[in-house]
Amino acid sequence: MLPRRPSCSATTALISLGSLLLLVCGLWLLVTIFWLQAPSNSVPHRAPPPRGSPGTEPQACGVVPEAWRFDCYPERGVVVTRELCEARNCCFIPASSSPPALGRNGVPWCFYPPGFPSYSLVSVNATDLGQTGTLVKTVKTYYPKDILTLQLGLLYETDNRLRVRITDPSESRFEVPIAVPKATEKASSPAYSVELSNEPFGIIVKRTSTGAVLLNTTVAPLFYCDQFLQLSSSLSSQYIYGLGEHRSSFLHDIHWNTLTMWARDVAPTELTNLYGVHPFYLAMDEGGTGTAHGFFLLNSNAMDVVLQPGPAITWRTIGGILDFYVFLGPDPTSVIGQYLEVVGYPAMPVYWALGYHLCRWGYGSSNATWDVVKNMRNYGIPQDVQWNDIDYMDRSLDFTFDPTAFSTLPDMVKDLHSHGQRYVMMLDPGISSVQPEGGYWPYDEGLRRGVFINHTDGSTLIGKVWPGLTAFPDFSDDVTHEWWYDNLKRFHDKVPFDGLWIDMNEPSSFVDGSTVGCPDTELENPPYTPGILGGLLRAKTLCASAVQKTSSHYNMHSLYGLLEAKASCPEAYVRKRAFVISRSTFPSQGQYSGHWLGDNRSHWKDMYTSIAGMLTFNLLGVPLVGADICGFSEQTEEELCVRWTQLGAFYPFTRNHNSIDQKPQDPPAFSPAARSAMKQSLLLRSSLFPLLYTLFHRAHTHGHTVARPLLFEFPKDVRTYGIDRQFLWGKSLMVTPVLDPGVDYVVGYFPQGLWYDYYTGDSIRSKGEELRLKAPLEHINLHLREGAVIPTQRPNTTLFVSSGQPLHLVSSLSEDGSAGGELFWDDGETGSTNTITFTSSLPIASYITVETASFYGVKMEPTRVMVNSHDAAFTYRANQVRLGVRSQRLSVF
Ligand code: GLC
Repeated sequence: MLPRRPSCSATTALISLGSLLLLVCGLWLLVTIFWLQAPSNSVPHRAPPPRGSPGTEPQACGVVPEAWRFDCYPERGVVVTRELCEARNCCFIPASSSPPALGRNGVPWCFYPPGFPSYSLVSVNATDLGQTGTLVKTVKTYYPKDILTLQLGLLYETDNRLRVRITDPSESRFEVPIAVPKATEKASSPAYSVELSNEPFGIIVKRTSTGAVLLNTTVAPLFYCDQFLQLSSSLSSQYIYGLGEHRSSFLHDIHWNTLTMWARDVAPTELTNLYGVHPFYLAMDEGGTGTAHGFFLLNSNAMDVVLQPGPAITWRTIGGILDFYVFLGPDPTSVIGQYLEVVGYPAMPVYWALGYHLCRWGYGSSNATWDVVKNMRNYGIPQDVQWNDIDYMDRSLDFTFDPTAFSTLPDMVKDLHSHGQRYVMMLDPGISSVQPEGGYWPYDEGLRRGVFINHTDGSTLIGKVWPGLTAFPDFSDDVTHEWWYDNLKRFHDKVPFDGLWIDMNEPSSFVDGSTVGCPDTELENPPYTPGILGGLLRAKTLCASAVQKTSSHYNMHSLYGLLEAKASCPEAYVRKRAFVISRSTFPSQGQYSGHWLGDNRSHWKDMYTSIAGMLTFNLLGVPLVGADICGFSEQTEEELCVRWTQLGAFYPFTRNHNSIDQKPQDPPAFSPAARSAMKQSLLLRSSLFPLLYTLFHRAHTHGHTVARPLLFEFPKDVRTYGIDRQFLWGKSLMVTPVLDPGVDYVVGYFPQGLWYDYYTGDSIRSKGEELRLKAPLEHINLHLREGAVIPTQRPNTTLFVSSGQPLHLVSSLSEDGSAGGELFWDDGETGSTNTITFTSSLPIASYITVETASFYGVKMEPTRVMVNSHDAAFTYRANQVRLGVRSQRLSVF
């Protein structure tokens, strides 16, 4: 339990002109400061470059501009000749330039000609929610099993959300088993208009207010075969984000960039499908107006998403249906909120999830793990959670612990709890199928209950993971959830863990398919295989033909991590908020777990790319995200680890994790100077906990981002569109980390306006410019945007203690002297706002006080400061008033 008395669910701090009126959890503080104001200045924003136009379709191959050539021969490993291309009735023109370095394919030499056979819209009828239509096609394509008649459904679900479903009216096809909202009445004043093109069929979606074209599927033919579905559209600009999980810059490159989606265990690598699958993008509208929209294809099959300079996008999936949403925003934050209304808002994390987590593979014993914790305590370095990797297990078996090397594990966990700390350990989905001596309950019982994924002949599919031969639980079956819960409960009775780390859940296997291979079927060898690593669906995972309760693994593969996460936080088990961190993710994951960005390397580049990964997952509704601080594989260096700890202190999820056989990289392992710099950054994080917790509550209730790209707050400033070396926490706190070795400065972009150095209150008035900032090794640059009130707290070594500390409010006045902010506060674990029992003998506070407040941007020394009509003590330093208000006994609760 948190040492605080919850009494209100959300609070707001408002500051008004000339005086500060703070509402903190029901208590109004009126702070009046007497000073003069300076006039504000403003600089017009720069418009983004105009987008390319889809143009009209030319009549001959030669006049199709390169940027608008849609690939007619995407198969890999084939040298596409004129003969092969023309056999598909496509245009063959060798491209004028060689493919750009990033592109997998470059400009296609074989592309669809204008007039390539597609569907026609032959009838349209109005429905309660929009329209329905019939699409027909007479000419078959070169892929098997064309579905020649399709049903179109247009659902005007809300004013800002359009849903389009293209289905097979004669047969039901696989649909992703996640719950999405069902609209009951048609949107009354939609922000979009839909035009349908009959011949060939196409959908054009425009923003009503501006006429901007957000979707235009007439640019290339529609394919709808049993195992090849393809939809292309123009993009309204080159500014497109999301489409996880990939290692790339935050802003995607649209120069023939193929992003393949199929959950895969592989260290983050460019142009490779990674652990998670998220067919969602956010794009800026054309023309630099600052408006944005989103698109989500609700499909879990292996797919390629091709970006090309048109700008245009192609969705090429090998199963399911075409079921997609367009979100109208109009600002980036609203787009994400609207997307998360469909897939679910992220869970509110338990308070200690936001502390510092320490982990490594290869501590070797519980005593060695415990020593690290004790060392952290000795140095007074904040640590909320200690983790163990697979080495805690007995012979790598789930739900066991090594009786020799980890014999003291239960004692260590008890000790962690008595210090207000928590314990998290790894679980892999693979369950050993080789009976260890004495039997192995998880496997025996799993077999008895029939929880494992099978081959088509009904035999259990066996792969290979850490313990050797393993069976894989089918988390699409409720029976498996019960069995998983029983296992967790039995283990929890021995080791009272607090959270779970679910790894290897793509699912990963060290053999392709199974130990006996896979049958030669259409599911194993589809007519088209997206560009997945290894070239085969079964590469380093299970047979695509494997049988799961809901559907074949072919359809269910990329949902494995989502469904395992769901099973790992059952309501019955988790009376408090669950803590689960998953490697594989799918849309709606944030409801059940957070995510870490996988097996990065101890390289400066990996530190840099972690920012894009973190921001992308914030767009995808999984805000509890971070990368392995200091790097997972390869040996870290002290400078890198210091800089990474500073950056990591601003990951929403902050964990240092290291691979086996690498030297220790926990803070005490470094020199006193490095250790002290790390400690300072972790204390800083701890002091910002009230802000971070409040931001998570916003994410949970409104679908907002926690770690936020600058473009979300400055959508009219095109210079923010590509920024992924800096980011914000919420609206106002800008983080500018050092990402390069050997420097004591960093260059950061400051959008137009007034900014304050977080530590000193020194102001910067920016016209929208890059500034060089001092950044000695012990310093991470933080700036407060004008107009903010940030709740902070006196830090401590665990959040259990520090969350009972008095608040310190930091206000950054805007030119007109106003500022605002908010604070959410509850018991931190259950969301309960009624009672709290104090069971610990730790020095705790039972209520929160506002002890002090700082006001940045006070231009003249005040003559008098009043708090709630009482004179308050204050100090004034150039530009900054610091109040001590403790004497006013301002208890928040
Ligand atoms: C996987 C995980 C990594 C873990 C290792 C051993 O590679 O991604 O974090 O340390 O397995 O369990």
